[in-house]
Amino acid sequence: MKWIDLRSDTVTWPTDEMRRAMAEAEVGDDVFGDDPTVNRLEQVAAERLGKEAGLFVASGTMGNLVAMLAHCGRGDEVILGDQAHTFVYEAGGISALGGIHPHPVPVLPDGTLPLDAIRAAIRPLGNTHFPPTRLIALENTQGTVGGIPLSKAYTDSVGALAREHGLSLHIDGARIFNAATALGVDVAALVEAADSVTFCLSKGLCAPVGSVLVGSREFIERARRMRKIVGGGMRQAGVLAAAGLVALEHMTDRLHEDHENARLLAEGLAEMPQIEINLESVQTNMVFFGLKDDVPLSAPQLSERLKAHNILLLPLNARRFRAVTHYWIRPEDVIWVLASLQKELA
Ligand SMILES: Cc1ncc(COP(=O)(O)O)c(C=O)c1O
Repeated sequence: MKWIDLRSDTVTWPTDEMRRAMAEAEVGDDVFGDDPTVNRLEQVAAERLGKEAGLFVASGTMGNLVAMLAHCGRGDEVILGDQAHTFVYEAGGISALGGIHPHPVPVLPDGTLPLDAIRAAIRPLGNTHFPPTRLIALENTQGTVGGIPLSKAYTDSVGALAREHGLSLHIDGARIFNAATALGVDVAALVEAADSVTFCLSKGLCAPVGSVLVGSREFIERARRMRKIVGGGMRQAGVLAAAGLVALEHMTDRLHEDHENARLLAEGLAEMPQIEINLESVQTNMVFFGLKDDVPLSAPQLSERLKAHNILLLPLNARRFRAVTHYWIRPEDVIWVLASLQKELA
C-alpha cells in the first residue's frame, strides 16, 4: 500500500540508483581511513560546501554534537536559537556529554536570531563569573519556524560578529541545500562565513543514513576524534556513503520540485475556509498550518481520519500541523491530500 507520508522528509527511502550504488560500493575499514567510498564522499562534500575537509557521521544530531565538542571545551558556552534543533531536540547531548553551556536567544519568525541579541549574549572577557563564549550556532533552513532559509547576507553578518569577538560559527545545515535552492545561491557561498557546517544526506536528499560535517582540515581532525569518543567510528561505511554520493550528485538539483509541491499544498490549503495558514512562511519544503477555532475536530483526530485516505500527517499540537514534501511526494499526491482534507472538514 502506498502511503502519502508528509510527516517529515526523514521518511524518504533510498532511490533505486542509491540501492545499486550501495550494493556495488567499494569498502574498507573507515576507522583506519581505508574506505575509498567514505573518503570520496567526504572530499566531494567538502568541495561542494567550499571547505577543506569532511567527516561522514551517522546522523545530523551526531554531526552537530561532534562539531560542538570540537569547537568547545567543558564549561564553554554556545549561543544558539531557543527553537534550534540542537537546543530542543538533540537530547541535551552537548551538555550531557560535552559539559557545554547553551545560551539560547530568541528565534524570530523569519528564522534569524537578532544580531543585537547575539551581541548581548556574548560574555565579556576576563570575568571569572561567566562561562566563556566560544561558538555561535545557526540553523538553515530553520525548521521549527517553517523551514525558512537564512540569507547569505544574514549569515555573513553573524560570521562577521563571531570574528569580531574571536568566536567560531557553526551551521546546522540539515537542509542547507533546500536553503540554497530557495535563495537561488551557491551553497558554498551561502556557508562561506561558517567555520563548520553539518548537512544531512538523508531527509530531502533521500539517502537512508548519514550526514557530513565539513570545516577546516585541522577542525575535522579534532571532530574525527570526537566522533570516535561518541562511538561513531564506523567500519565498512562505504555501503552508506555510496548512497550519500548519489544524494550529493543527483538529488540536490531537484529540490525545487519539493518546494513547488509545498507551494501547491499551501495555496490549496489557503483556499479552505477551515484552515489558517501564513503563505509567506512557505519558502522551502515545509508547510505549517492550523485549524480555525470553529473546526470541531482536533489536529490529532483529523490526522487519524486521514489515515483512511492513506495520508500520514503530523499534528504539532491540538490545532496545528506540519507537512513536509519530499522526493516521494508528487503533485498528484498533493491534490489527493487537498481533496481528502476537504472531505473530512466539510
Ligand atoms: C534542523 C535539524 N537539525 C538536525 C537534525 C538531526 O538530524 P538526525 O535526525 O539525522 O539526527 C534534524 C532532524 O530532523 C533537523 O531537522
